[in-house]
Amino acid sequence: MDDQSGTAPVAAGTTPVVPGIGHAPAVWAAGLVRLRVNGEPRSGVAEPRTLLSDFLRHELGLTGTHVGCEQGACGSCAVLVDGELTLSCLALAVQADGCAVETVEGIAHGSRLHPLQQAFQLKHGLQCGFCTPGMLVAARALLAATPDPSEQQVREHLSGNVCRCTGYTGIVDAVLEAARALRESGEPGA
Ligand code: FES
Ligand code: FES
Repeated sequence: MDDQSGTAPVAAGTTPVVPGIGHAPAVWAAGLVRLRVNGEPRSGVAEPRTLLSDFLRHELGLTGTHVGCEQGACGSCAVLVDGELTLSCLALAVQADGCAVETVEGIAHGSRLHPLQQAFQLKHGLQCGFCTPGMLVAARALLAATPDPSEQQVREHLSGNVCRCTGYTGIVDAVLEAARALRESGEPGA
């Protein structure tokens, strides 16, 4: 595992690696981490070395956040922390104490798929689905900041997210389709 201090090397692409997030004290015994996840207050026990990805999956049961490389290279573990795109395999759970975290489980509106999810379905933006949570979270961050991205902007933004199946064309088409749908709905970036 590389440096987890908040100065870890940035993954390829534009996915930021984090830090500076949270309110972790300098010294932390294993204890309770309190945060908001997908709008709900949640808490769980974390050791100082517990990764945010492991905390979400094993302590909170949110297994939608996938773990691939565990070194910031694949993007499958992407979540939003206080709105910032974050690789949860390079963040510590204690760094997210007091933060608002959004995972892939929070993207759908209840039982209604988010336009990004609908577009991934429509444009065949997934096959095995392993990369999909990270792709969706990263794409959501892009559309929040850039409601009308060019194809090149989509490709650059997702360049830190690895997909072994699709060849990326369906994913890029899906993000562009979702951007169009969101703009037409009057809720660009929602
Ligand atoms: S598991 Fe975090 S970037 Fe690959
Ligand atoms: S759909 Fe299989 S890794 Fe992307």
